[in-house]
Amino acid sequence: MKSSKKQEKLLAAERMKAAERLASEIMHELNTPLGGILMYSHLLLDDMSKDDPCRENVVKINKLVHRCKIIVQGLLDFSNNEIPEMSPVNVNRILRDVMGFMEDHVLFKGISIQTALDLSLPRVTGDESKLEQLFINLIINAGESMEGRGTLTLRTGFVRDTSEVKIECSDTGNGIAQEHMGRIFEPFFTTKKRVKGTGLGLSISHGIVELHGGTITVESHTGRGSTFTIHFPGAEQSNSDI
Ligand SMILES: Nc1ncnc2c1ncn2[C@@H]1O[C@H](COP(=O)(O)OP(=O)(O)O)[C@@H](O)[C@H]1O
Ligand SMILES: [Mg+2]
Repeated sequence: MKSSKKQEKLLAAERMKAAERLASEIMHELNTPLGGILMYSHLLLDDMSKDDPCRENVVKINKLVHRCKIIVQGLLDFSNNEIPEMSPVNVNRILRDVMGFMEDHVLFKGISIQTALDLSLPRVTGDESKLEQLFINLIINAGESMEGRGTLTLRTGFVRDTSEVKIECSDTGNGIAQEHMGRIFEPFFTTKKRVKGTGLGLSISHGIVELHGGTITVESHTGRGSTFTIHFPGAEQSNSDI
């Protein structure tokens, strides 16, 4: 790698770390008061009669605070310093489990879901709940990019040369603009309306992939769709329990 490229990568990693620390501090400061606001707005609502003219406003407060809690939760996941629980996991099964509950999500109404899972896939040494989180993030992004029509394809395969497990998540959605390509893994980078996107999904995903010693890359064509590809080191040669 050329040294300027290396420098760029290092800088990006530093920025990510600084953002992580900041996220963790903000999260700690906000979590408790937000919990309080949420609780009191629920109590207010419980005490109000159905036809109270203020009810609508309190419902709005409730929804907005709930949204803040989701963002804080995102930050919490993002700066999650918990020790991961690593064990040999079957990526195909995790993908199937995740798809099992995601396919009913309104995002996938009208979307065709295709899976091409390589049954001879070795296991990966991983933290099951973090891997779930990773796949959910990618699948939600794919769903959001397609706006109710298109195809989501999940593919797994074994790369013999490097003994790696390869996972692809493809969509036929709106794609990523060239000028955004270098920024999508940055914390808080989003092209979605503020109510929809927090811009944390891909930076959390990137962190999870790194934790597993893997890589994540993306290929995208505006208006035609995107493919996110993950490579993980394989833990063993065969999977007996698929
Ligand atoms: N499958 C996809 N198709 C098109 N754009 C995507 C896709 N996945 C990610 N992106 C782009 O990357 C940005 C960052 O994604 P993410 O970190 O998950 O944040 P968020 O989804 O909250 O915006 C998105 O706002 C979008 O512009
Ligand atoms: Mg997202």
